Amino acid sequence: MGLESGEQELSPESFKRLDPVEVHGIPFHKGTARRWRLISEFKARPDDLVICSYPKSGTTWIQEIVDMIRHGGDPQKCEKTPIYKRMPFLEMPHPVVSPLEELEAMTSLRTIKTHLPVQLLPPSFWEQNCKIIYMARNPKDNVLSYFHFHRMNQTYPDPVTWNQFLENFLAGKVLWGSWFDHVRGWWEAKDHHPILYLFYEDMKEDPGREIQKVAQFLDFELPELVLNKIIQHTTFERMKANPMTNYSTLPSFILDQTVSSFMRKGMVGDWKSNFTVAQSEKLDGICDQLLRNSGLTFRTQL
Ligand code: A3P
Repeated sequence: MGLESGEQELSPESFKRLDPVEVHGIPFHKGTARRWRLISEFKARPDDLVICSYPKSGTTWIQEIVDMIRHGGDPQKCEKTPIYKRMPFLEMPHPVVSPLEELEAMTSLRTIKTHLPVQLLPPSFWEQNCKIIYMARNPKDNVLSYFHFHRMNQTYPDPVTWNQFLENFLAGKVLWGSWFDHVRGWWEAKDHHPILYLFYEDMKEDPGREIQKVAQFLDFELPELVLNKIIQHTTFERMKANPMTNYSTLPSFILDQTVSSFMRKGMVGDWKSNFTVAQSEKLDGICDQLLRNSGLTFRTQL
């Protein structure tokens, strides 16, 4: 199930380094594009929670935090299943999991991960007034993390070189499209929809404060003891060592973690080790232009 009629399912191995396919002007993985009609017709339920982000913004981090909040800070309840099974990825490109079928079968409260830009979120999420948590990360660390993810994700286009990948990112010619449009679009949507807009840098600076914001948004009260358990369970080091969050349960023909780890560095400011001055200035200039008058600002160091 899940494909347009007449389409054959591709074998998992045939997903290697495919070129993007445009859907409504946004480059997507072929595996997503082939399921687009079903994704766009997805039927949300009013109590669905959406976790949305541009890829590599700390999505997995906020997913684990949400699951821990919902389970009263009990790590054992979160350690039974990989995160991508607990919170299916709506437009997951790869047929190794079937998010649409899994979501349909879920009876308990559903949390759905997506990287879709605001204009492509399936309409029923708006109609059902679902709560949405959006996670944003500064573009310099975000693009560097995305570059390394392309190196290790064997189903994504070849990033070629760092400079080439950065140029593609700045032009919006990467999977899920323009980072600038993504963060700005969701920022503007929060004025007329229940969206909690979070920043990776704030989370690094004071996880306790940000976790409390999430809990409040989800109508949970967190006693200090529970809050501390959540903070400890969701540190970078703990999540890197946890097979249920570090994606080591996916086969290496999808994520080759010998090339780069999914939980790579988890830092603010790692970009400084990779950007030239000219690259940094170019990104700053484009950022100033495209985020002008939005009220949206990013910290590139703490
Ligand atoms: P780096 O590649 O910079 O290390 P996503 O989940 O959206 O794919 O984002 C992955 C990025 O978030 C990776 O960034 C990863 O290391 C980082 N990350 C994941 N869990 C984290 C945590 N608990 N603390 C800090 N960063 C985390």
